[in-house]
Amino acid sequence: MSKKRSSSNVKYALYAIAVAFVAIQFAPVERENPPSEARVFWRDQATEQTAREACYDCHSNETDYPWYAYVAPVSWKIAADVNEGREHMNFSLDADDDRDEAAEKVREGEMPLWSYTLLESDADLTEEEREKFAAGLEKTFSEEVTPIIKPMKPEREPEAQSEPTNDDDGLRYEEREITPSETPKSSDKKNEGLRYD
Ligand code: HEC
Repeated sequence: MSKKRSSSNVKYALYAIAVAFVAIQFAPVERENPPSEARVFWRDQATEQTAREACYDCHSNETDYPWYAYVAPVSWKIAADVNEGREHMNFSLDADDDRDEAAEKVREGEMPLWSYTLLESDADLTEEEREKFAAGLEKTFSEEVTPIIKPMKPEREPEAQSEPTNDDDGLRYEEREITPSETPKSSDKKNEGLRYD
C-alpha cells in the first residue's frame, strides 16, 4: 500500500468516526428525575452530606446530570448506572431495598462505583471517610429507627381526608376603605384601657 493511499484511509476512518459520533447523539437517553415520594431521616448532617455527594446521583430521584451526561456514549453508561442503581436502592422511595447493605458496600470499597469517582472527586472517599460514612449509614438504617419521613408528594391528596383543605371558607368579604368616622377615636369610652401595641 502506498503512503498516500494509507493516509487517505486514515482520513476516511476519522471521518466515519466523526459521523458515527454525531449520529449516536440522536439516540434518545432517559434522564429523568421522577418526583420523590419519601426522604431519608439522616441521623446526622455529615452522613447526609456524604450520601448526597457520593450516592444520590445513582440512588435517588435527585440525580444531578452533568454536561457529559448529555454526550453519547458516556450518557448511555450514566443512564444505565442510574437506572440500575435506583432499582437496587432509592433514597427517594419508602422502599425495603438494599439500603441495609449500604454500609457494607462502602466499607468494601464497592460503592460508589469507581467509574463515578473518576469525575466526581467529592465521592472519592479516603479510608477514614469511608469508615465514618459507613458508621453513619449503619446508624441511619439500623432497625430500631424509622428512617423514612413521608409523604413528600403534595400533589397526591390523601383520600381519607374529607375536610376541604383550601382556605376558602365560602364566605365573601367585602373590600372597602374604612372612612375616618368609623375609626375608633382614642377618646372613645369603650376603647379605653385596651392597648395592643
Ligand atoms: C455511578 C452510579 C452509582 C453511585 C454514585 C453509587 N452507586 Fe450504588 N449501585 C450502582 C449500581 C449500578 C448498582 C447495581 C449494580 C451493583 O451492585 O454493582 C448499585 C448497587 C448498590 C447497592 C446494592 C448492592 C447489592 O449487591 O445489592 C448498594 C447497597 C449501593 N449501591 C450503595 C451505594 C452507596 C452507599 C453509594 C454512595 C457511597 C453508592 N451506592 C453510589 C450505582 C451507583
